[in-house]
Amino acid sequence: WPRSAQRIDGELHLGGRPVTELAREHGTPLFVLDETDFRGRAADFATAFEDADVHYASKAFLCGQVARWIADDGLHLDACSGNELSLALAAGFPAERIALHGNNKSLVELQLAVDAGIGHVVVDSFDEIDRLVPMAAARVEAGGAPVPVLIRATVGIEAHTHEFIATAHEDQKFGFSLATGDALTAAVRVIREPNLELTGLHSHIGSQIFDTAGFEAAAHRVVGLMGQLRQATGHVLAELNLGGGFGIAYLSEDDPVSPADIATRLRAVVAAECRELDLPVPRLAIEPGRAIAGPGTVTLYEIGTIKPVRLGASGAPGTPLVRNYVSVDGGMSDNIRTALYDASYTCVLANRASDAPPALCRVVGKHCESGDILVRDLWLPADVVPGDLLAVAATGAYCWSMASNYNYLLKPPVVAVRDGAATEIVRRQTLSDVFALDAVLAERPAPSP
Ligand code: LLP
Repeated sequence: WPRSAQRIDGELHLGGRPVTELAREHGTPLFVLDETDFRGRAADFATAFEDADVHYASKAFLCGQVARWIADDGLHLDACSGNELSLALAAGFPAERIALHGNNKSLVELQLAVDAGIGHVVVDSFDEIDRLVPMAAARVEAGGAPVPVLIRATVGIEAHTHEFIATAHEDQKFGFSLATGDALTAAVRVIREPNLELTGLHSHIGSQIFDTAGFEAAAHRVVGLMGQLRQATGHVLAELNLGGGFGIAYLSEDDPVSPADIATRLRAVVAAECRELDLPVPRLAIEPGRAIAGPGTVTLYEIGTIKPVRLGASGAPGTPLVRNYVSVDGGMSDNIRTALYDASYTCVLANRASDAPPALCRVVGKHCESGDILVRDLWLPADVVPGDLLAVAATGAYCWSMASNYNYLLKPPVVAVRDGAATEIVRRQTLSDVFALDAVLAERPAPSP
Protein backbone atom coordinates (compact mmCIF):
# COMPACT_ATOMS: atom_id res chain seq x y z
CA TRP A 1 0.00 0.00 0.00
CA PRO A 2 1.19 3.57 -0.61
CA ARG A 3 3.16 5.11 2.20
CA SER A 4 0.41 7.65 2.83
CA ALA A 5 -2.42 5.09 3.05
CA GLN A 6 -4.39 5.21 6.27
CA ARG A 7 -7.86 4.38 7.53
CA ILE A 8 -9.84 7.18 9.10
CA ASP A 9 -13.24 6.22 10.49
CA GLY A 10 -12.99 3.04 8.48
CA GLU A 11 -12.42 4.78 5.16
CA LEU A 12 -9.18 4.51 3.19
CA HIS A 13 -7.36 7.83 2.73
CA LEU A 14 -4.57 8.32 0.19
CA GLY A 15 -2.32 11.36 0.24
CA GLY A 16 -4.65 12.80 2.86
CA ARG A 17 -7.76 12.40 0.68
CA PRO A 18 -10.71 10.10 1.39
CA VAL A 19 -11.27 7.66 -1.44
CA THR A 20 -14.99 8.40 -1.69
CA GLU A 21 -14.18 12.02 -2.46
CA LEU A 22 -11.57 11.04 -5.07
CA ALA A 23 -14.06 8.67 -6.70
CA ARG A 24 -16.80 11.31 -6.71
CA GLU A 25 -14.56 14.00 -8.20
CA HIS A 26 -12.70 11.90 -10.77
CA GLY A 27 -14.92 8.87 -11.36
CA THR A 28 -13.94 5.21 -11.38
CA PRO A 29 -11.95 3.25 -12.36
CA LEU A 30 -9.29 5.62 -11.12
CA PHE A 31 -5.54 5.31 -10.65
CA VAL A 32 -4.54 7.17 -7.49
CA LEU A 33 -0.80 7.83 -7.35
CA ASP A 34 0.77 8.83 -4.05
CA GLU A 35 3.37 11.38 -5.13
CA THR A 36 5.34 11.13 -1.90
CA ASP A 37 5.58 7.37 -2.26
CA PHE A 38 6.68 7.50 -5.91
CA ARG A 39 9.29 10.19 -5.33
CA GLY A 40 10.35 8.66 -2.02
CA ARG A 41 11.17 5.37 -3.73
CA ALA A 42 13.06 7.20 -6.48
CA ALA A 43 15.01 9.02 -3.76
CA ASP A 44 15.72 5.75 -1.92
CA PHE A 45 17.36 4.36 -5.05
CA ALA A 46 19.23 7.60 -5.72
CA THR A 47 20.59 7.58 -2.16
CA ALA A 48 21.51 3.90 -2.16
CA PHE A 49 23.22 4.32 -5.53
CA GLU A 50 24.67 7.78 -4.95
CA ASP A 51 27.89 6.79 -6.73
CA ALA A 52 25.90 5.37 -9.67
CA ASP A 53 23.24 6.41 -12.17
CA VAL A 54 19.64 5.45 -11.48
CA HIS A 55 17.59 5.29 -14.66
CA TYR A 56 13.86 5.21 -14.10
CA ALA A 57 12.47 2.58 -16.52
CA SER A 58 9.67 4.69 -17.89
CA LYS A 59 7.80 1.78 -19.50
CA ALA A 60 6.42 1.08 -16.00
CA PHE A 61 4.49 4.36 -16.07
CA LEU A 62 5.25 7.59 -17.89
CA CYS A 63 3.44 10.88 -18.35
CA GLY A 64 4.64 14.48 -18.47
CA GLN A 65 4.38 14.98 -14.72
CA VAL A 66 6.33 11.82 -13.94
CA ALA A 67 9.04 12.83 -16.41
CA ARG A 68 9.31 16.16 -14.56
CA TRP A 69 9.54 14.55 -11.12
CA ILE A 70 12.24 12.18 -12.34
CA ALA A 71 14.13 15.08 -13.94
CA ASP A 72 13.80 17.31 -10.87
CA ASP A 73 14.87 14.52 -8.54
CA GLY A 74 18.08 14.02 -10.52
CA LEU A 75 17.45 10.55 -11.95
CA HIS A 76 18.06 9.38 -15.48
CA LEU A 77 15.34 7.93 -17.70
CA ASP A 78 15.23 4.75 -19.71
CA ALA A 79 13.01 4.99 -22.78
CA CYS A 80 12.26 1.95 -24.87
CA SER A 81 10.54 3.52 -27.84
CA GLY A 82 10.84 6.70 -29.84
CA ASN A 83 7.53 7.83 -28.40
CA GLU A 84 8.62 7.39 -24.78
CA LEU A 85 11.70 9.39 -25.77
CA SER A 86 9.55 12.07 -27.44
CA LEU A 87 7.32 12.32 -24.39
CA ALA A 88 10.28 12.78 -22.06
CA LEU A 89 11.83 15.41 -24.34
CA ALA A 90 8.49 17.21 -24.70
CA ALA A 91 8.22 17.36 -20.89
CA GLY A 92 11.64 19.03 -20.82
CA PHE A 93 13.63 16.02 -19.64
CA PRO A 94 17.37 16.65 -20.21
CA ALA A 95 18.39 14.61 -23.27
CA GLU A 96 21.81 13.74 -21.88
CA ARG A 97 20.15 11.82 -19.03
CA ILE A 98 18.08 9.60 -21.35
CA ALA A 99 18.99 6.14 -22.65
CA LEU A 100 17.17 4.49 -25.54
CA HIS A 101 16.46 0.77 -25.48
CA GLY A 102 14.75 -1.56 -27.93
CA ASN A 103 15.37 -4.67 -29.97
CA ASN A 104 13.98 -3.13 -33.15
CA LYS A 105 14.62 0.59 -33.11
CA SER A 106 13.52 2.14 -36.37
CA LEU A 107 15.58 4.57 -38.41
CA VAL A 108 13.25 7.34 -37.26
CA GLU A 109 13.71 6.42 -33.58
CA LEU A 110 17.49 6.22 -33.90
CA GLN A 111 17.62 9.54 -35.76
CA LEU A 112 15.54 11.17 -33.03
CA ALA A 113 17.97 9.87 -30.39
CA VAL A 114 21.02 11.00 -32.36
CA ASP A 115 19.57 14.45 -33.09
CA ALA A 116 18.43 15.01 -29.50
CA GLY A 117 21.87 14.09 -28.17
CA ILE A 118 20.66 11.51 -25.65
CA GLY A 119 23.02 10.01 -23.07
CA HIS A 120 23.39 6.73 -24.86
CA VAL A 121 21.80 4.25 -27.16
CA VAL A 122 21.69 0.71 -25.78
CA VAL A 123 22.56 -1.25 -28.90
CA ASP A 124 20.76 -4.55 -29.24
CA SER A 125 21.67 -6.06 -32.64
CA PHE A 126 24.17 -6.01 -35.49
CA ASP A 127 21.45 -4.52 -37.73
CA GLU A 128 21.16 -1.65 -35.31
CA ILE A 129 24.90 -0.96 -35.50
CA ASP A 130 24.56 -0.84 -39.31
CA ARG A 131 21.70 1.66 -38.99
CA LEU A 132 23.44 3.81 -36.44
CA VAL A 133 26.83 4.13 -38.14
CA PRO A 134 25.79 6.45 -41.01
CA MET A 135 23.75 8.64 -38.64
CA ALA A 136 26.70 8.95 -36.28
CA ALA A 137 28.97 9.77 -39.21
CA ALA A 138 26.62 12.53 -40.36
CA ARG A 139 26.51 13.96 -36.84
CA VAL A 140 30.29 13.99 -36.52
CA GLU A 141 30.58 15.44 -40.05
CA ALA A 142 28.33 18.28 -38.94
CA GLY A 143 30.62 19.01 -36.02
CA GLY A 144 28.82 16.89 -33.41
CA ALA A 145 30.23 14.32 -31.01
CA PRO A 146 30.38 10.56 -31.64
CA VAL A 147 27.25 8.72 -30.48
CA PRO A 148 27.69 7.11 -27.04
CA VAL A 149 26.64 3.49 -27.02
CA LEU A 150 26.24 0.61 -24.59
CA ILE A 151 26.19 -2.98 -25.80
CA ARG A 152 23.41 -5.08 -24.32
CA ALA A 153 24.76 -8.49 -23.42
CA THR A 154 22.60 -11.56 -22.87
CA VAL A 155 24.28 -13.21 -19.94
CA GLY A 156 22.43 -16.54 -19.95
CA ILE A 157 20.78 -16.29 -16.54
CA GLU A 158 17.48 -18.06 -15.95
CA ALA A 159 15.68 -15.53 -13.77
CA HIS A 160 12.96 -17.03 -11.62
CA THR A 161 10.05 -15.06 -12.89
CA HIS A 162 7.30 -15.45 -15.45
CA GLU A 163 8.62 -16.62 -18.83
CA PHE A 164 7.28 -13.54 -20.63
CA ILE A 165 9.25 -11.13 -18.45
CA ALA A 166 12.53 -13.03 -18.18
CA THR A 167 15.04 -11.61 -20.62
CA ALA A 168 18.54 -12.96 -20.17
CA HIS A 169 18.23 -16.64 -21.03
CA GLU A 170 19.57 -17.49 -24.48
CA ASP A 171 16.38 -18.22 -26.41
CA GLN A 172 14.73 -14.78 -26.56
CA LYS A 173 14.95 -11.63 -28.64
CA PHE A 174 17.05 -9.18 -26.59
CA GLY A 175 20.75 -8.46 -26.62
CA PHE A 176 23.94 -10.09 -27.88
CA SER A 177 24.75 -13.52 -26.56
CA LEU A 178 27.75 -13.70 -24.32
CA ALA A 179 27.97 -17.47 -24.74
CA THR A 180 28.31 -17.41 -28.54
CA GLY A 181 30.81 -14.56 -28.50
CA ASP A 182 28.39 -12.17 -30.25
CA ALA A 183 28.57 -9.69 -27.38
CA LEU A 184 32.34 -9.49 -27.66
CA THR A 185 32.18 -9.24 -31.46
CA ALA A 186 29.63 -6.43 -31.24
CA ALA A 187 31.68 -4.52 -28.67
CA VAL A 188 34.84 -4.84 -30.78
CA ARG A 189 32.93 -3.70 -33.84
CA VAL A 190 31.60 -0.59 -32.04
CA ILE A 191 35.06 0.25 -30.71
CA ARG A 192 36.38 0.22 -34.28
CA GLU A 193 33.68 2.58 -35.50
CA PRO A 194 35.19 6.06 -35.22
CA ASN A 195 31.81 7.78 -34.87
CA LEU A 196 30.45 5.52 -32.14
CA GLU A 197 31.79 5.65 -28.63
CA LEU A 198 31.45 2.45 -26.62
CA THR A 199 31.10 3.69 -23.07
CA GLY A 200 30.00 0.46 -21.41
CA LEU A 201 27.96 -2.70 -21.25
CA HIS A 202 24.39 -3.42 -20.30
CA SER A 203 22.58 -6.43 -18.90
CA HIS A 204 18.98 -6.93 -17.81
CA ILE A 205 17.85 -10.32 -16.59
CA GLY A 206 14.11 -9.91 -16.14
CA SER A 207 11.46 -8.34 -13.99
CA GLN A 208 9.79 -8.87 -10.58
CA ILE A 209 12.83 -10.71 -9.22
CA PHE A 210 13.38 -11.08 -5.46
CA ASP A 211 16.52 -13.17 -5.40
CA THR A 212 19.58 -10.97 -5.89
CA ALA A 213 21.67 -14.01 -6.84
CA GLY A 214 20.58 -13.57 -10.47
CA PHE A 215 21.77 -9.95 -10.55
CA GLU A 216 25.02 -10.93 -8.88
CA ALA A 217 25.65 -13.72 -11.39
CA ALA A 218 24.84 -11.33 -14.25
CA ALA A 219 27.22 -8.71 -12.86
CA HIS A 220 29.94 -11.33 -12.54
CA ARG A 221 29.55 -12.41 -16.16
CA VAL A 222 29.33 -8.99 -17.69
CA VAL A 223 32.44 -7.81 -15.82
CA GLY A 224 34.06 -10.93 -17.27
CA LEU A 225 33.13 -9.61 -20.71
CA MET A 226 34.80 -6.31 -19.83
CA GLY A 227 37.94 -8.32 -19.11
CA GLN A 228 37.73 -10.15 -22.43
CA LEU A 229 37.26 -6.87 -24.23
CA ARG A 230 40.32 -5.35 -22.65
CA GLN A 231 42.29 -8.42 -23.61
CA ALA A 232 41.07 -8.23 -27.21
CA THR A 233 41.37 -4.48 -27.74
CA GLY A 234 43.09 -2.87 -24.75
CA HIS A 235 39.90 -0.88 -24.27
CA VAL A 236 38.70 -0.30 -20.68
CA LEU A 237 35.01 0.48 -20.25
CA ALA A 238 33.79 3.07 -17.78
CA GLU A 239 30.12 2.07 -17.36
CA LEU A 240 28.22 -1.01 -16.33
CA ASN A 241 24.43 -0.93 -16.46
CA LEU A 242 22.86 -3.88 -14.66
CA GLY A 243 19.28 -3.15 -15.70
CA GLY A 244 16.15 -3.25 -13.59
CA GLY A 245 13.77 -5.94 -12.44
CA PHE A 246 13.74 -5.52 -8.66
CA GLY A 247 10.64 -7.18 -7.27
CA ILE A 248 7.93 -5.44 -5.24
CA ALA A 249 5.34 -6.66 -2.76
CA TYR A 250 2.01 -7.31 -4.44
CA LEU A 251 0.89 -9.43 -1.51
CA SER A 252 1.76 -9.00 2.14
CA GLU A 253 3.93 -12.14 2.13
CA ASP A 254 6.19 -10.83 -0.68
CA ASP A 255 9.52 -9.71 0.70
CA PRO A 256 11.36 -7.28 -1.56
CA VAL A 257 15.04 -6.45 -1.17
CA SER A 258 15.73 -2.84 -0.21
CA PRO A 259 17.62 -0.52 -2.60
CA ALA A 260 20.42 -0.25 -0.03
CA ASP A 261 20.86 -4.05 0.05
CA ILE A 262 20.74 -4.29 -3.73
CA ALA A 263 23.42 -1.59 -3.94
CA THR A 264 25.67 -3.29 -1.39
CA ARG A 265 25.48 -6.66 -3.09
CA LEU A 266 26.00 -5.39 -6.63
CA ARG A 267 28.91 -3.20 -5.60
CA ALA A 268 30.55 -6.11 -3.80
CA VAL A 269 30.31 -8.48 -6.78
CA VAL A 270 31.53 -5.90 -9.26
CA ALA A 271 34.42 -4.84 -7.03
CA ALA A 272 35.51 -8.43 -6.40
CA GLU A 273 35.36 -9.38 -10.05
CA CYS A 274 37.23 -6.23 -11.10
CA ARG A 275 39.91 -6.97 -8.51
CA GLU A 276 40.19 -10.48 -9.88
CA LEU A 277 40.63 -9.22 -13.42
CA ASP A 278 42.68 -6.18 -12.42
CA LEU A 279 40.13 -3.83 -14.01
CA PRO A 280 39.17 -0.40 -12.72
CA VAL A 281 35.70 -0.48 -11.12
CA PRO A 282 33.21 0.95 -13.65
CA ARG A 283 30.47 3.42 -12.78
CA LEU A 284 27.32 1.42 -12.13
CA ALA A 285 23.86 2.14 -13.45
CA ILE A 286 20.53 0.46 -12.72
CA GLU A 287 17.08 0.76 -14.25
CA PRO A 288 14.29 0.23 -11.72
CA GLY A 289 10.78 0.78 -13.08
CA ARG A 290 8.33 -1.26 -11.05
CA ALA A 291 10.20 -0.71 -7.77
CA ILE A 292 9.72 3.06 -8.12
CA ALA A 293 6.27 3.27 -9.71
CA GLY A 294 4.51 0.13 -8.54
CA PRO A 295 3.77 0.30 -4.81
CA GLY A 296 2.55 3.90 -4.59
CA THR A 297 -0.52 3.62 -6.82
CA VAL A 298 -3.86 1.96 -6.18
CA THR A 299 -6.75 1.50 -8.57
CA LEU A 300 -10.17 2.42 -7.25
CA TYR A 301 -13.13 0.59 -8.75
CA GLU A 302 -16.83 0.68 -8.02
CA ILE A 303 -18.54 -2.64 -7.48
CA GLY A 304 -21.40 -3.30 -9.88
CA THR A 305 -22.67 -6.86 -9.88
CA ILE A 306 -22.09 -9.52 -7.24
CA LYS A 307 -22.85 -13.05 -8.29
CA PRO A 308 -22.51 -16.03 -5.97
CA VAL A 309 -21.33 -18.99 -8.03
CA ARG A 310 -21.57 -22.49 -6.65
CA LEU A 311 -18.29 -24.39 -6.73
CA GLY A 312 -18.20 -28.06 -7.66
CA ALA A 313 -18.99 -30.41 -4.79
CA SER A 314 -15.65 -32.13 -5.34
CA GLY A 315 -13.71 -29.41 -3.50
CA ALA A 316 -11.40 -30.43 -0.66
CA PRO A 317 -13.03 -30.63 2.77
CA GLY A 318 -13.45 -27.18 4.19
CA THR A 319 -13.56 -25.56 0.75
CA PRO A 320 -16.33 -22.98 0.63
CA LEU A 321 -19.03 -24.02 -1.74
CA VAL A 322 -19.72 -20.56 -3.06
CA ARG A 323 -17.44 -17.99 -4.58
CA ASN A 324 -18.75 -14.48 -5.02
CA TYR A 325 -17.85 -13.02 -8.39
CA VAL A 326 -17.50 -9.35 -7.60
CA SER A 327 -17.60 -7.35 -10.83
CA VAL A 328 -16.06 -3.91 -11.04
CA ASP A 329 -16.28 -1.12 -13.60
CA GLY A 330 -12.85 -1.75 -15.20
CA GLY A 331 -10.85 -4.92 -15.75
CA MET A 332 -8.24 -6.33 -18.06
CA SER A 333 -8.20 -3.11 -20.11
CA ASP A 334 -6.72 -1.20 -17.14
CA ASN A 335 -4.84 -4.13 -15.58
CA ILE A 336 -3.98 -7.01 -17.87
CA ARG A 337 -1.31 -8.41 -15.58
CA THR A 338 -3.42 -11.07 -13.87
CA ALA A 339 -4.66 -12.42 -17.19
CA LEU A 340 -1.30 -12.14 -18.93
CA TYR A 341 1.22 -13.18 -16.28
CA ASP A 342 -0.96 -14.88 -13.71
CA ALA A 343 0.03 -11.98 -11.45
CA SER A 344 -1.28 -11.80 -7.90
CA TYR A 345 -3.01 -8.72 -6.55
CA THR A 346 -4.90 -7.95 -3.43
CA CYS A 347 -7.64 -5.45 -2.73
CA VAL A 348 -9.69 -4.08 0.14
CA LEU A 349 -13.09 -2.62 0.69
CA ALA A 350 -12.05 1.02 0.66
CA ASN A 351 -15.03 3.26 1.40
CA ARG A 352 -15.96 1.84 4.80
CA ALA A 353 -15.01 -0.62 7.47
CA SER A 354 -16.95 -3.82 7.86
CA ASP A 355 -16.95 -6.44 10.54
CA ALA A 356 -19.00 -8.88 8.51
CA PRO A 357 -17.50 -12.37 8.23
CA PRO A 358 -15.20 -12.95 5.26
CA ALA A 359 -16.55 -14.49 2.06
CA LEU A 360 -14.52 -16.08 -0.70
CA CYS A 361 -14.48 -13.71 -3.66
CA ARG A 362 -13.01 -13.27 -7.09
CA VAL A 363 -12.74 -9.73 -8.38
CA VAL A 364 -13.46 -9.59 -12.08
CA GLY A 365 -13.79 -6.87 -14.68
CA LYS A 366 -16.61 -6.08 -17.09
CA HIS A 367 -14.98 -7.32 -20.27
CA CYS A 368 -16.50 -9.96 -22.48
CA GLU A 369 -13.95 -12.55 -21.49
CA SER A 370 -13.91 -15.06 -18.64
CA GLY A 371 -10.16 -14.56 -18.11
CA ASP A 372 -10.90 -10.93 -17.20
CA ILE A 373 -9.82 -11.41 -13.60
CA LEU A 374 -8.18 -8.79 -11.38
CA VAL A 375 -7.83 -10.65 -8.08
CA ARG A 376 -8.17 -14.39 -8.40
CA ASP A 377 -9.10 -15.39 -4.87
CA LEU A 378 -9.46 -13.36 -1.73
CA TRP A 379 -11.69 -12.93 1.27
CA LEU A 380 -13.82 -9.82 1.35
CA PRO A 381 -16.40 -8.92 3.97
CA ALA A 382 -19.61 -10.78 3.17
CA ASP A 383 -21.62 -7.55 3.22
CA VAL A 384 -19.99 -5.83 0.22
CA VAL A 385 -22.69 -4.37 -2.00
CA PRO A 386 -22.93 -2.70 -5.39
CA GLY A 387 -21.71 0.87 -5.03
CA ASP A 388 -18.93 -0.02 -2.59
CA LEU A 389 -15.41 0.92 -3.63
CA LEU A 390 -12.58 -1.56 -3.95
CA ALA A 391 -8.93 -0.47 -3.91
CA VAL A 392 -6.46 -2.77 -5.66
CA ALA A 393 -2.92 -2.33 -4.32
CA ALA A 394 0.36 -1.82 -6.18
CA THR A 395 -1.01 -1.01 -9.63
CA GLY A 396 1.46 1.76 -10.44
CA ALA A 397 3.65 -0.26 -12.78
CA TYR A 398 2.57 -1.80 -16.09
CA CYS A 399 -1.16 -1.22 -15.58
CA TRP A 400 -1.95 2.22 -16.99
CA SER A 401 1.03 1.86 -19.33
CA MET A 402 -0.38 -1.41 -20.71
CA ALA A 403 -3.98 -0.23 -20.76
CA SER A 404 -6.04 -0.84 -23.87
CA ASN A 405 -9.42 0.08 -25.27
CA TYR A 406 -10.64 -3.52 -25.37
CA ASN A 407 -14.43 -3.53 -25.69
CA TYR A 408 -14.06 0.23 -26.20
CA LEU A 409 -13.60 0.82 -22.51
CA LEU A 410 -11.86 4.12 -21.92
CA LYS A 411 -8.48 4.51 -20.25
CA PRO A 412 -8.85 5.74 -16.67
CA PRO A 413 -7.29 8.95 -15.41
CA VAL A 414 -4.31 9.12 -13.07
CA VAL A 415 -4.67 11.39 -10.09
CA ALA A 416 -1.63 12.32 -8.03
CA VAL A 417 -2.38 12.92 -4.36
CA ARG A 418 -0.20 14.66 -1.85
CA ASP A 419 -0.82 16.47 1.43
CA GLY A 420 -4.56 16.57 0.90
CA ALA A 421 -4.40 17.81 -2.70
CA ALA A 422 -5.39 15.76 -5.74
CA THR A 423 -4.19 16.65 -9.24
CA GLU A 424 -5.26 14.88 -12.38
CA ILE A 425 -1.93 14.21 -14.12
CA VAL A 426 -3.56 12.19 -16.90
CA ARG A 427 -7.21 12.85 -17.69
CA ARG A 428 -9.78 10.18 -18.43
CA GLN A 429 -10.01 9.22 -22.07
CA THR A 430 -13.35 10.20 -23.62
CA LEU A 431 -15.39 8.49 -26.26
CA SER A 432 -14.70 11.51 -28.48
CA ASP A 433 -10.96 10.83 -28.15
CA VAL A 434 -11.60 7.34 -29.43
CA PHE A 435 -14.15 8.31 -32.12
CA ALA A 436 -11.60 10.81 -33.45
CA LEU A 437 -9.53 7.90 -34.76
CA ASP A 438 -12.42 6.32 -36.62
CA ALA A 439 -12.91 7.16 -40.31
CA VAL A 440 -16.70 6.98 -40.12
CA LEU A 441 -17.28 8.39 -36.67
CA ALA A 442 -14.65 11.10 -36.46
CA GLU A 443 -17.03 13.87 -37.49
CA ARG A 444 -19.90 12.79 -35.25
CA PRO A 445 -20.33 14.02 -31.74
CA ALA A 446 -19.82 11.13 -29.35
CA PRO A 447 -22.91 10.24 -27.34
CA SER A 448 -22.45 10.90 -23.69
CA PRO A 449 -21.80 7.66 -21.83
N1 LLP B 1 15.53 -2.23 -18.06
C1 LLP B 1 15.20 -2.98 -19.12
C2 LLP B 1 16.17 -3.15 -20.21
C3 LLP B 1 13.95 -3.60 -19.19
O1 LLP B 1 13.65 -4.35 -20.23
C4 LLP B 1 13.03 -3.42 -18.12
C5 LLP B 1 11.72 -4.04 -18.17
C6 LLP B 1 13.41 -2.62 -17.04
C7 LLP B 1 14.67 -2.05 -17.05
C8 LLP B 1 12.51 -2.34 -15.88
O2 LLP B 1 12.14 -3.47 -15.19
P1 LLP B 1 11.40 -3.31 -13.78
O3 LLP B 1 12.39 -2.70 -12.82
O4 LLP B 1 10.22 -2.44 -13.99
O5 LLP B 1 11.01 -4.69 -13.41
N2 LLP B 1 5.02 -5.77 -18.40
C9 LLP B 1 5.73 -6.64 -17.47
C10 LLP B 1 7.13 -6.17 -17.22
C11 LLP B 1 7.93 -6.03 -18.46
C12 LLP B 1 9.28 -5.52 -18.16
C13 LLP B 1 10.01 -5.20 -19.40
N3 LLP B 1 11.30 -4.68 -19.17
C14 LLP B 1 4.92 -6.72 -16.19
O6 LLP B 1 3.86 -6.14 -16.12
O7 LLP B 1 5.33 -7.40 -15.26
